[in-house]
Amino acid sequence: MPAHTFQISVKNTLTLKKATKNKPLPIVVVFVSDEGQILGNLGDAQYISRATALIQQSHFKGTLGKSVTDYALDDQASPAISIVGVGKLDKLADNIAKVAVATYDVIKNSQSAAILWGDTICQIHFTQFVTALIGASYRFEHHKTKPKDADTLREIVIISNKDTQTDYDKALVFAQATAAGITTARDVANEAPNVLNPSELAKKAKQLAKDYADTVSVTVLNEKDMKKLGMGCFLAVSQGSDAEGKLAVIEYYGKSKKSDKKAKLDKPFALVGKGLTFDSGGISLKPAAGMEEMKFDMGGAASILGTVRAVAEAGLEIDLVAVLACAENMPSSRSARPGDVVTAMNGTTVEILNTDAEGRLVLCDALCYVQEHYDARIIIDTATLTGACVIALGSVRSGMYSNDEDALFALQAASEYTGDLVWHMPLDDAYDEQINSKIADVQNIGGREAGSVTAACFLQRFIKEGQAWVHLDIAGPAWKSGSTNTASGRPVALLTQYLRSQA
Ligand code: BES
Ligand code: MN
Ligand code: ZN
Repeated sequence: MPAHTFQISVKNTLTLKKATKNKPLPIVVVFVSDEGQILGNLGDAQYISRATALIQQSHFKGTLGKSVTDYALDDQASPAISIVGVGKLDKLADNIAKVAVATYDVIKNSQSAAILWGDTICQIHFTQFVTALIGASYRFEHHKTKPKDADTLREIVIISNKDTQTDYDKALVFAQATAAGITTARDVANEAPNVLNPSELAKKAKQLAKDYADTVSVTVLNEKDMKKLGMGCFLAVSQGSDAEGKLAVIEYYGKSKKSDKKAKLDKPFALVGKGLTFDSGGISLKPAAGMEEMKFDMGGAASILGTVRAVAEAGLEIDLVAVLACAENMPSSRSARPGDVVTAMNGTTVEILNTDAEGRLVLCDALCYVQEHYDARIIIDTATLTGACVIALGSVRSGMYSNDEDALFALQAASEYTGDLVWHMPLDDAYDEQINSKIADVQNIGGREAGSVTAACFLQRFIKEGQAWVHLDIAGPAWKSGSTNTASGRPVALLTQYLRSQA
């Protein structure tokens, strides 16, 4: 559950009712560019003239994210006016999420707010703006015995005069569905690793089937099931932990009917998520500093879970299968050792040289499972796979690997549309050579060079000829380290927009 919810609507005109004791007037937000230009020159002229006066009196420069508020303290009948800087107009598309965060900060403690959107900002910005606004209200306080006071905001009206009301209503439904998916992903990823073990993560998938009973069904495989299927790589990771590993398989029927007796997905999109509820490194133990952040190592699975929620909530007319590879990587006398050789579901033998390269081991069996059981039009996996990707791209862009030109193109477009950015990375054979093993078919690490690329090459070894596939290394973007230390919900927005564009 999000810590706080508010209604959002879009209207063409702004009519503010007179204030009463119980219903104070709202706050009116006006956007200002770095050239002092007011965006959304709409609504009652008095707000524009007050905004203009405020810009002059406060020497407001329209700097991105800065704001000034006039609370009209001597005039109880007038609303507060806030000017929010949006910076350079030609960078507005890149900065819209920052504008939304600044806006939320300004309005969060009013009961209602009117945002003068005007005709400068189009629908593209609108979707990103709304998801970022809802994202800004997010808090994770499940474990606080004394949570901070909730924000008082209940209602936002966005005043626009571009595109039709239907356009905006549709965009709003999609943006809110996306935000719900992002919230789910963040809630699950932020949870403590003793609370959210692999079985609990699989239960979150079960919950989806309850929430969307008409379209979603879930099957959970346990370690015994996986042993029967020959998932030796997955089990090599999971066996070191007392917490049992689970493979959650979610089916979403948006095109085919789930109610049909022999319901079967028709050429589904397939999503696969790395769900390490904790990654200690196993026998190749990680250093102590910052190890607590490895509770976020299920960020891939969380993002897939969130994407399925967004897709179901928006009612996209596609068939979709999603697999969460849920395990815990721990050192014990039952753990896999460096040097062990194990066999994946498709018969490939793998020499484990570093037990901390566990993500690729759980994923390769999940990828085999999907290809064995579904005729997927494309498989997209998301994983907090390598520290090397954090070094290469930081937390700004996810590393994107693919064997399919069309998918690359469509994901690039979705990336720019949502601001949930990706960067295309290579898969040359010359990198793949680094993971040839001396004694088995493949080894699970490729040496110091190009660590994110060789991890992707490892996964590609399990993709059948002709199967379209994308791997997103989200190790950087999945969460914010440091003082906030909170999950981002990425790349839910990217995947949901991609799926919408393909529907
Ligand atoms: N979950 C980690 C990757 C990771 C590290 C994500 C830091 C985010 C921040 C992954 O399982 C891992 O440990 N990868 C190793 C691979 C290495 C042993 C080849 C790494 O990146 O160090
Ligand atoms: Mn690891
Ligand atoms: Zn890991």
